[in-house]
Amino acid sequence: MSCDTKEMAALGALEIIKGLDLRDGELVGIGTGSTVRAFLDVAHELLKGKRLMSSSNSTALELSGRGFDVIYYPSTSYVRLYVDGADEVVPATGDMIKGGGGALLGEKILAFASALNIFIVSEDKVVERLGSRSPVPIEVLPEALPFIMESLKAMGLKASPRTSAGKMGPVISDWRGVIVDVFTGPIGDPRRLNESLKSIPGVIETGLFVGLADYVVVGRRSCTYDVYRLRRVVKAPYL
Ligand code: 5RP
Repeated sequence: MSCDTKEMAALGALEIIKGLDLRDGELVGIGTGSTVRAFLDVAHELLKGKRLMSSSNSTALELSGRGFDVIYYPSTSYVRLYVDGADEVVPATGDMIKGGGGALLGEKILAFASALNIFIVSEDKVVERLGSRSPVPIEVLPEALPFIMESLKAMGLKASPRTSAGKMGPVISDWRGVIVDVFTGPIGDPRRLNESLKSIPGVIETGLFVGLADYVVVGRRSCTYDVYRLRRVVKAPYL
């Protein structure tokens, strides 16, 4: 028998959350993507009565379609819990690449603001080194795009502004930045790369999520999930 890996990861998150004594009215941040949708399928009852803060336009639509009131865009510094997916993860460290859906800025703000972060992934997202399969997306100021492309080239990094069917030119994010995919190959030191990318003027945020995970849950085809409890490094400002 083979199970839906996203559903398995979602069930793992649900078990963790059931142990949290989440109260009605508490603020829960909701990430973006198909694994998050699987989480919303299994956590519908548990989320009733909570205040839900969306990381993206896509999730805001998803939540309102499911009958939830949505707080649109991170607008407070205290979030009790945040649940999101990832494009690549190293479970032992909890380091991740995110932003496959272009929502990395809203996602990172919520992950930073939240007291507890749970990331849920299917087993195919597990890598030994970040950058093995996915590019690192960054969000940049549109006006600085030519300068940033030159700067990335000078740093020896291959990069291209993300494009999408249905729009000419680069993809513009929910936050009105341009998404640029940086093709790094396997990354030796994700923290350092994050710092280097952010040191370029005009780079608003990167899809490297380093030290932000409290839990990573990996859903497996074998109808199980693995829970990795991590020592979070980057803490919410009020913790
Ligand atoms: C969106 C993200 C998503 O969490 C990531 O792309 C994973 O998506 P999915 O669960 O659909 O595989 O970072 O910006």
